[in-house]
Amino acid sequence: STPIIIDCDPGIDDSIALLAAFVSPELEILAITPVSGNQPLERTVRNALQICELGGRTDIPVYPGSFRPLLRDVIRGQFHGHSGLGNTSLPEPRKEAEDKGAVEFLVDRLGEAARTGKPVTLCCLGPMTNLAMALRIDPNIAAGVARIVMMGGAYREPGNRTMTAEFNMLADPHAAHIVFSSDIPIVALALDATHQVILTPEHVEQFAAVSGRIASTVADLMAFWDRNQVERYGSRGGPLHDPLVIAFLLAPHLFQTKPARVFIEHESELCMGQTVADWYNKSGLEPNAEIVCDVDAKGVIALFLQLFSRYQIE
Ligand code: BDR
Ligand code: CA
Repeated sequence: STPIIIDCDPGIDDSIALLAAFVSPELEILAITPVSGNQPLERTVRNALQICELGGRTDIPVYPGSFRPLLRDVIRGQFHGHSGLGNTSLPEPRKEAEDKGAVEFLVDRLGEAARTGKPVTLCCLGPMTNLAMALRIDPNIAAGVARIVMMGGAYREPGNRTMTAEFNMLADPHAAHIVFSSDIPIVALALDATHQVILTPEHVEQFAAVSGRIASTVADLMAFWDRNQVERYGSRGGPLHDPLVIAFLLAPHLFQTKPARVFIEHESELCMGQTVADWYNKSGLEPNAEIVCDVDAKGVIALFLQLFSRYQIE
């Protein structure tokens, strides 16, 4: 199975991604590294622990990450509700976060992966502050990363947080710039991809019909997401952002990508956090990312229905 680390800011869609990864034997989850993003760090850590408790995966260590973005003022997610997990009531976590911080963990674990030649896949579902800090402490850890599969950015689509920027990129554009300049291969699931997988109330009903507590919690989370996004996206429903990272790892045949060099705007206030793809190789630089252009939305939703029906917890 593929060793992965999930760097995230749960968050409704982050939580759905975690619950999907938990029941995928193809993925060996080495750690979860929450970061400040949708919610303050204290919350994203607590939410990650609650999701581990709910999913019966208290074996996975949770390392708390960065409190703040590198340089920018903090921005928080919208549509995730007061706690970051909608209106759901989740079990109290019995387990605590690790004493070691996420950045130190990434430096140590990816350093080990580089030395032993057993690279790890990073799933980045939030602002990329933790990884950027780790890369600044020890650039050699890049050799310990097989690839980054990340949710963030907006290429041909407009932004969802400003006219040009998607939330994760705007929340820490300097971190994203460091990561995209690291020469680690990146698979980018931007709004161009995630806006192809829109959850309608009919989909939510399908998830609610899967038996067990996990599927009904997922359906509750999706319903909250859906209600809160309809205003912005019309009657289409809410896009399934972060879970697509897990779907990509499990079923890459459902996704089509195009290679390009990507630059992150981190100087202009108007376009801060914009992801700029060099489709026609104006820069003369090698591509650093595979950008997902097309998603088989039906296939992805069927995959998630099947994953959530694997849970044996009532
Ligand atoms: C991203 O922003 C966050 O609110 C979501 O969790 C997702 O990672 C979508 O733009
Ligand atoms: Ca997220």
